[in-house]
Amino acid sequence: MDFVELKRRSSTSRRLLLLAGIAAICLFIFRNSSSFSTSVKFSQHEPGVTHVLVTGGAGYIGSHASLRLLKDSYRVTIVDNLSRGNMGSVKVLQELFPEPGRLQFIYADLGDAAAVNKIFSQNAFDAVMHFAAVAYVGESTQEPLRYYHNITSNTLLLVKAMAAHGVKTLIYSSTCATYGEPEKMPITEVTPQSPINPYGKAKKMAEDIILDFSKTSDMAVMILRYFNVIGSDPEGRLGEAPPPELREQGRISGACFDAARGIIPGLKIRGVDYTTPDGTCVRDYIDVTDLIDAHVKALEHAKPSKVGIYNVGTGKGSSVKQFVEACKKATGVDIKIDYLNRRPGDYAEVYSDPSKIRRELNWIARYSLEESLAIAWRWQKVHRNGYN
Ligand SMILES: NC(=O)c1ccc[n+]([C@@H]2O[C@H](COP(=O)([O-])OP(=O)(O)OC[C@H]3O[C@@H](n4cnc5c(N)ncnc54)[C@H](O)[C@@H]3O)[C@@H](O)[C@H]2O)c1
Repeated sequence: MDFVELKRRSSTSRRLLLLAGIAAICLFIFRNSSSFSTSVKFSQHEPGVTHVLVTGGAGYIGSHASLRLLKDSYRVTIVDNLSRGNMGSVKVLQELFPEPGRLQFIYADLGDAAAVNKIFSQNAFDAVMHFAAVAYVGESTQEPLRYYHNITSNTLLLVKAMAAHGVKTLIYSSTCATYGEPEKMPITEVTPQSPINPYGKAKKMAEDIILDFSKTSDMAVMILRYFNVIGSDPEGRLGEAPPPELREQGRISGACFDAARGIIPGLKIRGVDYTTPDGTCVRDYIDVTDLIDAHVKALEHAKPSKVGIYNVGTGKGSSVKQFVEACKKATGVDIKIDYLNRRPGDYAEVYSDPSKIRRELNWIARYSLEESLAIAWRWQKVHRNGYN
Protein backbone atom coordinates (compact mmCIF):
# COMPACT_ATOMS: atom_id res chain seq x y z
CA MET A 1 0.00 0.00 0.00
CA ASP A 2 1.59 3.27 -1.00
CA PHE A 3 1.37 6.60 0.87
CA VAL A 4 -1.36 8.06 -1.41
CA GLU A 5 -3.58 5.00 -0.91
CA LEU A 6 -3.17 5.21 2.91
CA LYS A 7 -4.09 8.91 2.92
CA ARG A 8 -7.22 8.24 0.79
CA ARG A 9 -8.39 5.47 3.16
CA SER A 10 -7.92 7.55 6.29
CA SER A 11 -9.81 10.51 4.78
CA THR A 12 -12.67 8.11 3.79
CA SER A 13 -12.89 6.79 7.36
CA ARG A 14 -12.85 10.36 8.70
CA ARG A 15 -15.78 11.16 6.38
CA LEU A 16 -17.65 8.06 7.50
CA LEU A 17 -17.07 8.97 11.13
CA LEU A 18 -18.27 12.49 10.47
CA LEU A 19 -21.42 11.19 8.75
CA ALA A 20 -22.12 8.78 11.60
CA GLY A 21 -21.70 11.66 14.05
CA ILE A 22 -24.13 13.86 12.11
CA ALA A 23 -26.62 10.99 11.90
CA ALA A 24 -26.37 10.41 15.66
CA ILE A 25 -26.93 14.13 16.35
CA CYS A 26 -29.95 14.19 13.99
CA LEU A 27 -31.41 11.14 15.68
CA PHE A 28 -30.85 12.71 19.09
CA ILE A 29 -32.57 15.95 17.99
CA PHE A 30 -35.41 14.02 16.37
CA ARG A 31 -35.98 11.82 19.42
CA ASN A 32 -36.06 14.87 21.63
CA SER A 33 -38.12 17.03 19.32
CA SER A 34 -41.59 17.88 20.56
CA SER A 35 -43.28 16.06 17.68
CA PHE A 36 -41.48 12.81 18.48
CA SER A 37 -42.18 13.05 22.21
CA THR A 38 -45.75 14.13 21.41
CA SER A 39 -46.40 11.11 19.20
CA VAL A 40 -44.89 8.84 21.86
CA LYS A 41 -47.29 10.31 24.39
CA PHE A 42 -50.25 9.53 22.15
CA SER A 43 -49.02 6.06 21.26
CA GLN A 44 -48.46 4.81 24.80
CA HIS A 45 -50.82 4.40 27.73
CA GLU A 46 -49.77 6.56 30.65
CA PRO A 47 -50.88 5.79 34.19
CA GLY A 48 -53.25 8.48 35.45
CA VAL A 49 -53.95 9.88 31.97
CA THR A 50 -57.08 8.92 30.05
CA HIS A 51 -56.67 9.25 26.30
CA VAL A 52 -60.00 9.85 24.55
CA LEU A 53 -60.58 9.54 20.82
CA VAL A 54 -63.17 12.19 19.92
CA THR A 55 -64.61 11.44 16.49
CA GLY A 56 -66.21 14.47 14.87
CA GLY A 57 -64.29 16.67 17.30
CA ALA A 58 -64.17 19.55 14.80
CA GLY A 59 -67.96 19.74 14.81
CA TYR A 60 -70.33 21.66 17.06
CA ILE A 61 -70.80 19.18 19.92
CA GLY A 62 -67.47 17.34 19.50
CA SER A 63 -65.44 20.56 19.79
CA HIS A 64 -67.24 21.50 23.01
CA ALA A 65 -66.59 17.97 24.31
CA SER A 66 -62.89 18.24 23.43
CA LEU A 67 -62.64 21.58 25.24
CA ARG A 68 -64.17 20.14 28.41
CA LEU A 69 -62.03 16.98 28.28
CA LEU A 70 -58.85 19.03 27.83
CA LYS A 71 -59.87 21.32 30.71
CA ASP A 72 -60.32 18.20 32.84
CA SER A 73 -56.79 16.97 31.94
CA TYR A 74 -57.78 14.23 29.54
CA ARG A 75 -55.55 13.55 26.52
CA VAL A 76 -57.55 14.10 23.34
CA THR A 77 -57.22 12.89 19.77
CA ILE A 78 -59.70 14.42 17.37
CA VAL A 79 -60.46 12.53 14.16
CA ASP A 80 -62.56 14.42 11.63
CA ASN A 81 -62.88 14.61 7.85
CA LEU A 82 -63.92 18.28 8.08
CA SER A 83 -66.92 17.57 5.85
CA ARG A 84 -69.03 19.63 8.25
CA GLY A 85 -66.74 20.65 11.07
CA ASN A 86 -64.41 23.61 11.35
CA MET A 87 -60.64 23.56 11.52
CA GLY A 88 -61.13 26.95 13.24
CA SER A 89 -62.53 25.25 16.34
CA VAL A 90 -59.56 22.84 16.41
CA LYS A 91 -57.16 25.83 16.16
CA VAL A 92 -58.89 27.45 19.15
CA LEU A 93 -58.31 24.25 21.14
CA GLN A 94 -54.69 23.96 19.94
CA GLU A 95 -54.00 27.52 21.09
CA LEU A 96 -55.59 26.86 24.48
CA PHE A 97 -53.74 23.58 25.01
CA PRO A 98 -50.37 23.79 23.19
CA GLU A 99 -48.46 21.48 25.57
CA PRO A 100 -47.12 18.27 23.98
CA GLY A 101 -49.30 15.24 24.53
CA ARG A 102 -52.55 17.11 25.21
CA LEU A 103 -54.32 17.36 21.85
CA GLN A 104 -53.73 16.00 18.37
CA PHE A 105 -55.85 16.37 15.28
CA ILE A 106 -55.99 13.63 12.65
CA TYR A 107 -57.69 14.31 9.34
CA ALA A 108 -59.39 11.07 8.32
CA ASP A 109 -62.68 9.67 7.11
CA LEU A 110 -64.25 7.11 9.43
CA GLY A 111 -65.53 5.24 6.39
CA ASP A 112 -61.94 4.40 5.43
CA ALA A 113 -61.29 1.13 7.30
CA ALA A 114 -57.56 1.10 6.57
CA ALA A 115 -57.15 4.66 7.87
CA VAL A 116 -59.19 3.89 10.99
CA ASN A 117 -57.11 0.78 11.71
CA LYS A 118 -53.89 2.73 11.24
CA ILE A 119 -55.11 5.37 13.71
CA PHE A 120 -55.90 2.69 16.28
CA SER A 121 -52.58 0.90 15.78
CA GLN A 122 -50.59 4.14 16.18
CA ASN A 123 -52.46 5.47 19.21
CA ALA A 124 -53.20 4.11 22.67
CA PHE A 125 -56.79 5.10 23.31
CA ASP A 126 -58.54 4.42 26.59
CA ALA A 127 -61.99 5.49 25.43
CA VAL A 128 -63.92 6.70 22.40
CA MET A 129 -66.57 9.41 22.22
CA HIS A 130 -68.21 8.87 18.87
CA PHE A 131 -69.82 12.12 17.67
CA ALA A 132 -68.95 12.02 13.96
CA ALA A 133 -72.08 11.84 11.85
CA VAL A 134 -74.21 13.60 9.33
CA ALA A 135 -77.09 14.82 11.42
CA TYR A 136 -79.99 16.50 9.63
CA VAL A 137 -83.39 14.82 9.59
CA GLY A 138 -84.54 16.52 6.36
CA GLU A 139 -81.31 15.71 4.51
CA SER A 140 -81.59 12.08 5.63
CA THR A 141 -84.90 11.71 3.81
CA GLN A 142 -83.27 13.07 0.62
CA GLU A 143 -80.02 11.06 0.92
CA PRO A 144 -80.87 7.94 2.95
CA LEU A 145 -77.94 5.83 1.74
CA ARG A 146 -75.49 8.51 2.75
CA TYR A 147 -76.98 8.41 6.27
CA TYR A 148 -76.89 4.61 6.59
CA HIS A 149 -73.31 4.62 5.36
CA ASN A 150 -72.06 7.53 7.44
CA ILE A 151 -73.84 6.62 10.65
CA THR A 152 -74.45 2.86 10.65
CA SER A 153 -71.53 1.46 8.60
CA ASN A 154 -69.01 3.86 10.09
CA THR A 155 -70.08 2.93 13.62
CA LEU A 156 -69.65 -0.74 12.69
CA LEU A 157 -66.12 -0.05 11.44
CA LEU A 158 -65.29 1.94 14.54
CA VAL A 159 -66.54 -0.76 16.93
CA LYS A 160 -64.58 -3.39 14.96
CA ALA A 161 -61.42 -1.28 15.27
CA MET A 162 -62.03 -0.81 18.99
CA ALA A 163 -62.46 -4.57 19.42
CA ALA A 164 -59.36 -5.36 17.36
CA HIS A 165 -57.22 -2.92 19.33
CA GLY A 166 -58.61 -3.60 22.80
CA VAL A 167 -60.23 -0.19 23.40
CA LYS A 168 -62.86 -0.91 26.00
CA THR A 169 -64.99 2.18 26.58
CA LEU A 170 -67.46 3.74 24.15
CA ILE A 171 -69.68 6.76 24.66
CA TYR A 172 -72.11 6.93 21.75
CA SER A 173 -74.00 10.02 20.51
CA SER A 174 -77.53 8.93 19.82
CA THR A 175 -80.70 10.90 19.46
CA CYS A 176 -84.33 11.22 20.47
CA ALA A 177 -85.06 10.69 16.74
CA THR A 178 -84.64 6.95 17.45
CA TYR A 179 -87.97 7.07 19.33
CA GLY A 180 -89.92 8.39 16.35
CA GLU A 181 -93.33 9.65 17.31
CA PRO A 182 -94.23 8.09 20.66
CA GLU A 183 -97.81 8.34 21.85
CA LYS A 184 -96.89 9.03 25.43
CA MET A 185 -94.85 11.93 26.75
CA PRO A 186 -92.39 12.35 28.37
CA ILE A 187 -90.04 9.94 26.63
CA THR A 188 -88.25 7.52 28.94
CA GLU A 189 -85.44 5.15 27.99
CA VAL A 190 -87.98 2.28 27.77
CA THR A 191 -90.29 4.14 25.40
CA PRO A 192 -90.35 1.88 22.30
CA GLN A 193 -87.97 3.01 19.58
CA SER A 194 -89.75 3.37 16.29
CA PRO A 195 -87.84 5.89 14.19
CA ILE A 196 -89.64 7.48 11.23
CA ASN A 197 -86.78 8.90 9.17
CA PRO A 198 -83.45 7.52 7.88
CA TYR A 199 -81.47 9.61 10.39
CA GLY A 200 -83.31 8.07 13.36
CA LYS A 201 -83.24 4.62 11.78
CA ALA A 202 -79.50 4.79 11.04
CA LYS A 203 -78.79 5.81 14.65
CA LYS A 204 -81.05 3.05 16.00
CA MET A 205 -79.22 0.47 13.85
CA ALA A 206 -75.88 1.80 15.11
CA GLU A 207 -77.18 1.43 18.68
CA ASP A 208 -78.23 -2.16 17.90
CA ILE A 209 -74.77 -3.00 16.53
CA ILE A 210 -73.15 -1.62 19.68
CA LEU A 211 -75.62 -3.40 21.98
CA ASP A 212 -75.26 -6.78 20.23
CA PHE A 213 -71.48 -6.51 20.29
CA SER A 214 -71.51 -5.53 23.97
CA LYS A 215 -73.22 -8.85 24.82
CA THR A 216 -70.16 -10.69 23.54
CA SER A 217 -67.47 -8.48 25.06
CA ASP A 218 -66.47 -6.69 28.23
CA MET A 219 -66.76 -3.28 26.57
CA ALA A 220 -68.15 -0.47 28.75
CA VAL A 221 -70.89 1.23 26.74
CA MET A 222 -72.83 4.41 27.37
CA ILE A 223 -75.47 5.45 24.83
CA LEU A 224 -76.70 9.02 25.22
CA ARG A 225 -79.87 10.00 23.39
CA TYR A 226 -79.82 13.76 23.04
CA PHE A 227 -82.83 15.97 22.54
CA ASN A 228 -82.42 19.35 20.73
CA VAL A 229 -78.99 20.76 21.39
CA ILE A 230 -78.45 24.54 21.61
CA GLY A 231 -76.02 27.02 23.16
CA SER A 232 -72.25 27.34 23.20
CA ASP A 233 -69.22 27.70 25.43
CA PRO A 234 -70.10 30.27 28.17
CA GLU A 235 -66.58 31.73 27.89
CA GLY A 236 -67.13 32.48 24.23
CA ARG A 237 -64.34 30.35 22.78
CA LEU A 238 -66.47 28.02 20.65
CA GLY A 239 -69.82 28.20 18.92
CA GLU A 240 -72.08 26.52 16.39
CA ALA A 241 -71.04 27.17 12.79
CA PRO A 242 -72.44 24.66 10.30
CA PRO A 243 -71.49 25.09 6.63
CA PRO A 244 -73.62 27.88 5.08
CA GLU A 245 -75.06 25.49 2.48
CA LEU A 246 -76.77 23.61 5.32
CA ARG A 247 -78.68 26.68 6.49
CA GLU A 248 -81.82 25.45 4.76
CA GLN A 249 -81.62 22.12 6.60
CA GLY A 250 -80.72 23.96 9.71
CA ARG A 251 -81.85 24.02 13.25
CA ILE A 252 -84.14 26.58 14.83
CA SER A 253 -81.43 28.35 16.86
CA GLY A 254 -79.33 28.94 13.74
CA ALA A 255 -82.37 30.28 11.89
CA CYS A 256 -83.25 32.64 14.77
CA PHE A 257 -79.73 34.04 14.90
CA ASP A 258 -79.60 34.39 11.10
CA ALA A 259 -82.89 36.34 11.26
CA ALA A 260 -81.56 38.51 14.10
CA ARG A 261 -78.43 39.33 12.03
CA GLY A 262 -80.48 40.06 8.94
CA ILE A 263 -78.92 37.20 6.95
CA ILE A 264 -82.46 35.95 6.33
CA PRO A 265 -85.49 38.27 6.32
CA GLY A 266 -87.31 36.53 9.16
CA LEU A 267 -88.45 33.26 10.62
CA LYS A 268 -90.97 30.87 9.21
CA ILE A 269 -93.01 29.01 11.80
CA ARG A 270 -94.47 25.92 10.19
CA GLY A 271 -97.69 24.80 11.80
CA VAL A 272 -99.80 26.62 14.36
CA ASP A 273 -102.59 24.05 14.69
CA TYR A 274 -100.85 21.28 16.61
CA THR A 275 -102.50 19.96 19.76
CA THR A 276 -100.10 21.87 21.98
CA PRO A 277 -100.83 24.81 24.33
CA ASP A 278 -100.07 27.51 21.71
CA GLY A 279 -100.49 25.37 18.57
CA THR A 280 -96.77 25.25 17.66
CA CYS A 281 -94.46 22.22 18.03
CA VAL A 282 -92.93 21.53 21.42
CA ARG A 283 -89.31 20.39 21.81
CA ASP A 284 -86.84 19.81 24.65
CA TYR A 285 -83.81 22.13 24.25
CA ILE A 286 -80.64 21.00 25.99
CA ASP A 287 -77.63 23.27 26.42
CA VAL A 288 -74.37 21.97 24.91
CA THR A 289 -72.38 22.59 28.12
CA ASP A 290 -74.92 20.53 30.08
CA LEU A 291 -74.82 17.86 27.38
CA ILE A 292 -71.04 17.58 27.58
CA ASP A 293 -71.24 17.39 31.35
CA ALA A 294 -73.45 14.32 30.83
CA HIS A 295 -70.71 12.80 28.60
CA VAL A 296 -68.02 13.32 31.19
CA LYS A 297 -70.25 11.79 33.88
CA ALA A 298 -71.01 8.89 31.52
CA LEU A 299 -67.27 8.35 30.97
CA GLU A 300 -66.62 8.42 34.72
CA HIS A 301 -69.41 5.91 35.40
CA ALA A 302 -68.69 3.55 32.47
CA LYS A 303 -68.04 0.01 33.74
CA PRO A 304 -66.68 -3.04 31.87
CA SER A 305 -69.42 -5.38 30.55
CA LYS A 306 -72.11 -2.82 31.42
CA VAL A 307 -74.37 -0.79 29.15
CA GLY A 308 -75.98 2.48 30.19
CA ILE A 309 -78.64 4.14 28.04
CA TYR A 310 -79.71 7.66 28.96
CA ASN A 311 -81.93 10.41 27.65
CA VAL A 312 -80.19 13.77 27.82
CA GLY A 313 -82.77 16.53 27.94
CA THR A 314 -84.18 19.04 30.39
CA GLY A 315 -87.53 17.29 30.85
CA LYS A 316 -89.22 20.55 29.90
CA GLY A 317 -90.84 21.15 26.54
CA SER A 318 -90.78 24.63 24.95
CA SER A 319 -92.96 25.57 22.03
CA VAL A 320 -91.57 27.16 18.86
CA LYS A 321 -93.34 30.39 19.85
CA GLN A 322 -91.69 30.32 23.28
CA PHE A 323 -88.33 29.61 21.62
CA VAL A 324 -88.73 32.59 19.31
CA GLU A 325 -89.71 34.87 22.21
CA ALA A 326 -86.59 33.73 24.12
CA CYS A 327 -84.49 34.35 21.02
CA LYS A 328 -85.93 37.87 20.60
CA LYS A 329 -85.03 38.58 24.22
CA ALA A 330 -81.51 37.16 23.89
CA THR A 331 -80.73 39.08 20.69
CA GLY A 332 -82.72 42.24 21.40
CA VAL A 333 -84.06 42.03 17.84
CA ASP A 334 -87.76 42.01 17.02
CA ILE A 335 -87.51 39.08 14.59
CA LYS A 336 -90.12 39.06 11.85
CA ILE A 337 -92.25 35.93 11.81
CA ASP A 338 -94.29 34.30 9.05
CA TYR A 339 -96.76 31.60 10.00
CA LEU A 340 -97.00 28.79 7.43
CA ASN A 341 -98.71 25.42 7.11
CA ARG A 342 -97.30 22.36 8.82
CA ARG A 343 -94.13 20.73 7.42
CA PRO A 344 -94.72 17.04 6.62
CA GLY A 345 -93.03 14.70 9.08
CA ASP A 346 -92.93 17.10 12.05
CA TYR A 347 -94.40 15.70 15.23
CA ALA A 348 -96.29 17.83 17.72
CA GLU A 349 -94.51 17.26 20.96
CA VAL A 350 -91.23 15.70 22.08
CA TYR A 351 -89.67 16.02 25.51
CA SER A 352 -87.64 13.78 27.74
CA ASP A 353 -87.92 12.24 31.12
CA PRO A 354 -84.36 12.76 32.40
CA SER A 355 -84.92 11.09 35.79
CA LYS A 356 -82.76 8.03 34.98
CA ILE A 357 -79.64 10.08 34.25
CA ARG A 358 -80.28 12.22 37.32
CA ARG A 359 -80.62 9.14 39.51
CA GLU A 360 -77.77 7.07 38.11
CA LEU A 361 -75.19 9.63 36.95
CA ASN A 362 -76.16 12.51 39.25
CA TRP A 363 -76.64 14.77 36.22
CA ILE A 364 -79.09 17.62 35.79
CA ALA A 365 -79.50 20.32 33.15
CA ARG A 366 -78.50 23.71 34.59
CA TYR A 367 -78.99 26.21 31.77
CA SER A 368 -82.40 27.67 30.98
CA LEU A 369 -83.46 28.23 27.38
CA GLU A 370 -82.99 32.00 27.80
CA GLU A 371 -79.50 31.68 29.31
CA SER A 372 -78.41 29.24 26.67
CA LEU A 373 -79.58 31.45 23.81
CA ALA A 374 -78.00 34.56 25.36
CA ILE A 375 -74.63 32.78 25.56
CA ALA A 376 -74.88 31.47 22.01
CA TRP A 377 -75.85 34.92 20.70
CA ARG A 378 -72.72 36.52 22.23
CA TRP A 379 -70.58 34.17 20.08
CA GLN A 380 -72.77 34.47 16.98
CA LYS A 381 -72.69 38.28 17.10
CA VAL A 382 -68.90 38.39 16.83
CA HIS A 383 -68.56 35.41 14.47
CA ARG A 384 -70.83 36.43 11.65
CA ASN A 385 -68.92 34.13 9.29
CA GLY A 386 -68.42 31.33 11.76
CA TYR A 387 -64.76 30.55 12.36
CA ASN A 388 -63.62 32.29 9.17
N1 LIG B 1 -77.04 18.84 17.21
C1 LIG B 1 -78.07 18.19 17.73
O1 LIG B 1 -79.09 18.79 18.08
C2 LIG B 1 -77.99 16.70 17.94
C3 LIG B 1 -79.08 16.04 18.52
C4 LIG B 1 -79.00 14.66 18.72
C5 LIG B 1 -77.84 13.95 18.38
N2 LIG B 1 -76.81 14.61 17.78
C6 LIG B 1 -75.61 13.83 17.41
O2 LIG B 1 -74.47 14.47 17.91
C7 LIG B 1 -73.35 14.22 17.07
C8 LIG B 1 -72.65 15.53 16.74
O3 LIG B 1 -73.57 16.39 16.08
P1 LIG B 1 -73.21 17.91 15.75
O4 LIG B 1 -74.45 18.69 15.89
O5 LIG B 1 -71.99 18.32 16.51
O6 LIG B 1 -72.88 17.80 14.20
P2 LIG B 1 -71.71 18.51 13.37
O7 LIG B 1 -72.05 18.34 11.93
O8 LIG B 1 -71.43 19.88 13.87
O9 LIG B 1 -70.44 17.60 13.73
C9 LIG B 1 -70.21 16.33 13.15
C10 LIG B 1 -68.72 16.22 12.84
O10 LIG B 1 -68.47 14.92 12.31
C11 LIG B 1 -67.60 15.05 11.20
N3 LIG B 1 -67.83 13.89 10.33
C12 LIG B 1 -68.97 13.55 9.68
N4 LIG B 1 -68.78 12.43 8.98
C13 LIG B 1 -67.49 12.04 9.20
C14 LIG B 1 -66.70 10.96 8.73
N5 LIG B 1 -67.19 10.05 7.88
N6 LIG B 1 -65.43 10.87 9.14
C15 LIG B 1 -64.90 11.79 9.98
N7 LIG B 1 -65.60 12.83 10.45
C16 LIG B 1 -66.88 12.96 10.05
C17 LIG B 1 -67.97 16.38 10.55
O11 LIG B 1 -66.96 16.91 9.75
C18 LIG B 1 -68.26 17.22 11.79
O12 LIG B 1 -67.09 17.86 12.24
C19 LIG B 1 -73.92 13.49 15.85
O13 LIG B 1 -73.67 12.11 16.02
C20 LIG B 1 -75.40 13.78 15.91
O14 LIG B 1 -76.16 12.76 15.33
C21 LIG B 1 -76.86 15.97 17.55
